[in-house]
Amino acid sequence: MKDIPKLGLGFWQIEKSDAKRVFLEGYEVGYRHFDTAIIYGNESEIGDAIKELKPNREEIWLTSKIPAEIKSYKKAKKAIDESLERLGVEYLDLMLIHAPKPWVFMFMPGPRYHKGNREVWRAMVDAKKEGKIKNLGVSNFNVNDIKNITEYSNEPIYVNQILIHVGRVPKEVINYCQNNNILVEAYSPLGVGKLLKNEKIIEMAKKNNVSPAQLCIKYVDNLGTIPLPRSRSKKHMENNFHFDFKLSIEDKEQLDKMKI
Ligand SMILES: NC(=O)c1ccc[n+]([C@@H]2O[C@H](COP(=O)([O-])OP(=O)(O)OC[C@H]3O[C@@H](n4cnc5c(N)ncnc54)[C@H](OP(=O)(O)O)[C@@H]3O)[C@@H](O)[C@H]2O)c1
Repeated sequence: MKDIPKLGLGFWQIEKSDAKRVFLEGYEVGYRHFDTAIIYGNESEIGDAIKELKPNREEIWLTSKIPAEIKSYKKAKKAIDESLERLGVEYLDLMLIHAPKPWVFMFMPGPRYHKGNREVWRAMVDAKKEGKIKNLGVSNFNVNDIKNITEYSNEPIYVNQILIHVGRVPKEVINYCQNNNILVEAYSPLGVGKLLKNEKIIEMAKKNNVSPAQLCIKYVDNLGTIPLPRSRSKKHMENNFHFDFKLSIEDKEQLDKMKI
């Protein structure tokens, strides 16, 4: 079984007009892990890039996500088939349930859609049996959302993709996942770009001879999570690809305490 590359290129907010170029440039830089979602609306253009590049399928890792609004077996099954069609591939390396609740209710109290998430999971398990998905995962799930799946199914949750960056480290869910053999992916590791303007981060990056983006990526990597930075600039992609430096204990502690 292929290993998940420990850095991924994010595709949220990458316009259709940019997606093919971003994929091809990302590949050229060295990225082999690409993170999209049905809702991002750029699967077809990523598919165009794959068609043009013709990489060995084993060489690239493709993740997509079933929209948070889909909570039925039938709709999930259809969504998986359409995603494969748009990407023009035989299988996805990873398919995630994008969120436990439809986005409009996501940040409100109320039902967690436990029944619906089990239905979507069942469709993903069946798709895995058919060879359409290699690994199944979730996103934005809390510990109870995760238990709802693991108490229902023997199929392991491979990944939980959650919001993690300096100033936003949800320890409970990270620890739970890491203690239960669920990989954690860090989305928005640059705080959607906001962290790069933070004075303390700029200063610490300068001291370490790295860019603010490299510092932020290193921070989530140090937590044992997989960073998924996004960029539409090749220069930034290159910069983000290299974060092979050591963060001192003092710097790490300072970043841990940072309020953003
Ligand atoms: N599962 C979920 O619900 C969920 C939610 C959000 C995100 N995600 C995933 O996580 C990925 C990353 O998160 P994100 O898109 O929120 O943003 P992010 O990676 O935290 O930040 C992206 C921003 O940082 C800028 N940037 C990147 N590298 C830079 C560099 N080296 N120097 C200066 N600026 C730089 C980018 O601008 P330029 O384009 O100009 O470089 C862009 O404005 C997404 O694309 C998506 O794949 C998942």
